[in-house]
Amino acid sequence: MDSYRLGQFSVNRIGFGAMQLPGPRVMGPPRDHDEAIAILRRAVEWGVNHIDTAQFYGPDVANDLIREALHPYPDDLVLVSKVGAFRDAAGGWLPGQRPDQLRSAVEDNLRSLGVERLGAVNLRLHEGRAPGEEPVRLEDQLAEMVALRDEGKIAGVGISTATLDQVRQAIEQADIVCVQNAFSLLDRSDADVLDLCAERGIAYVPYFPLGSAFPNTPKVVDNAAVRDVAERLGVTPAQVGLAWLLGYRENILLIPGTSRLSHLEENLAVAGIHLTDADVAELEAGIEPEPTVE
Ligand SMILES: NC(=O)c1ccc[n+]([C@@H]2O[C@H](COP(=O)([O-])OP(=O)(O)OC[C@H]3O[C@@H](n4cnc5c(N)ncnc54)[C@H](OP(=O)(O)O)[C@@H]3O)[C@@H](O)[C@H]2O)c1
Repeated sequence: MDSYRLGQFSVNRIGFGAMQLPGPRVMGPPRDHDEAIAILRRAVEWGVNHIDTAQFYGPDVANDLIREALHPYPDDLVLVSKVGAFRDAAGGWLPGQRPDQLRSAVEDNLRSLGVERLGAVNLRLHEGRAPGEEPVRLEDQLAEMVALRDEGKIAGVGISTATLDQVRQAIEQADIVCVQNAFSLLDRSDADVLDLCAERGIAYVPYFPLGSAFPNTPKVVDNAAVRDVAERLGVTPAQVGLAWLLGYRENILLIPGTSRLSHLEENLAVAGIHLTDADVAELEAGIEPEPTVE
């Protein structure tokens, strides 16, 4: 499998996103606990050395599963988490971007995953703010992330759901190692951020690479142009969507999320699938990209 740098580490370009492991709406225990554990173990067995998670997936569920399945961790496994949000009792997603909240979220991840340092932590930005809270300046959020890195709790700082200007500010102030924004064949609106990352040697880790599990977003696997190319190549539509991403830029690191072992195996097999220039042209011409609305 090809690799790309994630800060001081070199990771395989196909990783795993843990957001689909908890129950429906990313809340509560998994549909099938044993399958969730098997997915994590199989991923690592098949070469995944980059896992994306968050304390707020479940909440707590994804991190607890990762620890149960994989601790003590292989030396080359890079665990990446994100901070800047928390869940309410109904499963709502609330911003938690004050420096003290970012710090306690990092501490929670260290404790639940059972590590002394996280490979990278993404500062997840939000447009909204928590009820009764003042907006927190990006500069102050980044300063806290840098402090956490200086203290050795984080190897690299990343940023997520960030505009081009915010990414520029994060590069300047925090020397970020990765950007995590929505990007897929169906939503290419972030191409300018991706290009900036490619120029600077920063990993770009697209979330929603298949269009997400949320019911209101278009799915890569349902797209007619994707399905046509998949049928012609004898692969699955998900594999076409992921292979397109791998071929798009060398600094893209994949973290597709799944709750099914069969889908994990399909997604990892993308390392062996190559789209020709003609396939790519057919896909890009046949799909009118639209920005993802979460
Ligand atoms: N920074 C952020 O704000 C942010 C936001 C969202 C996500 N993320 C990260 O990015 C990762 C990827 O995003 P995501 O999980 O939301 O969405 P995604 O990877 O685009 O899609 C996940 C959905 O695709 C399905 N799927 C996966 N593999 C498939 C296959 N081979 N064939 C058919 N369907 C397949 C999954 O269903 P099954 O479970 O049935 O396979 C699930 O419904 C997450 O896991 C998380 O780690 C980060």
